[in-house]
Amino acid sequence: MSSSYPYRRLQEKLGLDQPLPWTEHWSAAEDFLLLIAEHCLEQQPARILECSSGLSTLVLARCCQLNGQGQVFSLENGEAFAKASRDNLNALGLENHARVLHAPLEAQEVNGRTFQWYKLPAALPEDVDMLVVDGPPGFLQPLSRYPALPLLRDRLANGCHLFLDDAARDDEKTIAEAWCREVPGLRHEYLELQRGCAVFVLP
Ligand SMILES: C[S@@+](CC[C@H](N)C(=O)[O-])C[C@H]1O[C@@H](n2cnc3c(N)ncnc32)[C@H](O)[C@@H]1O
Repeated sequence: MSSSYPYRRLQEKLGLDQPLPWTEHWSAAEDFLLLIAEHCLEQQPARILECSSGLSTLVLARCCQLNGQGQVFSLENGEAFAKASRDNLNALGLENHARVLHAPLEAQEVNGRTFQWYKLPAALPEDVDMLVVDGPPGFLQPLSRYPALPLLRDRLANGCHLFLDDAARDDEKTIAEAWCREVPGLRHEYLELQRGCAVFVLP
């Protein structure tokens, strides 16, 4: 992992003194992290929202620090994972660039189906220009990440870029098809990353 080309590129882009605290199987893959880092450094979004905290939070917060602007809001259902992400932000001096919001999963009805999904905290921004969807975990329920777009749509700015991780899985392919059906004008591209990534651009 640590000698792969995307990892080295990522470390170069981030210019951190310390290695990133990777969690095998749970952290996003390094090519996905590189993709969102490059987007963040090039487009300099002001408000970034993510579903699930972890390494992606550190990477995006570091990009905002390098950009000299931008703020990450990270929804995390696990209180212990939220604390771990906050501790890691503090350890890297990135605490001013990201807020990890504890958002327990609760039953929510979306388009006639019930999902366990994040209870949205009051402190969420509007006009989000980058959304990263890497949770809730897929094993919880079918189409676990489907609610992200219908439930966050009214907080997303026109032209917002949405990155859906693990898009090589059948569930994520179904989610991508549903989102494209339901949002007229939504642009969609599939990228052949290790675990697949679907990128959407809101009209
Ligand atoms: C795919 S992980 C999130 C990865 C995150 N975006 C990253 O890049 O590190 C999705 C969720 O799994 C949970 N999680 C993280 N690490 C875990 C672990 N070691 N065991 C079980 N669940 C974990 C957290 O609630 C997290 O929000």
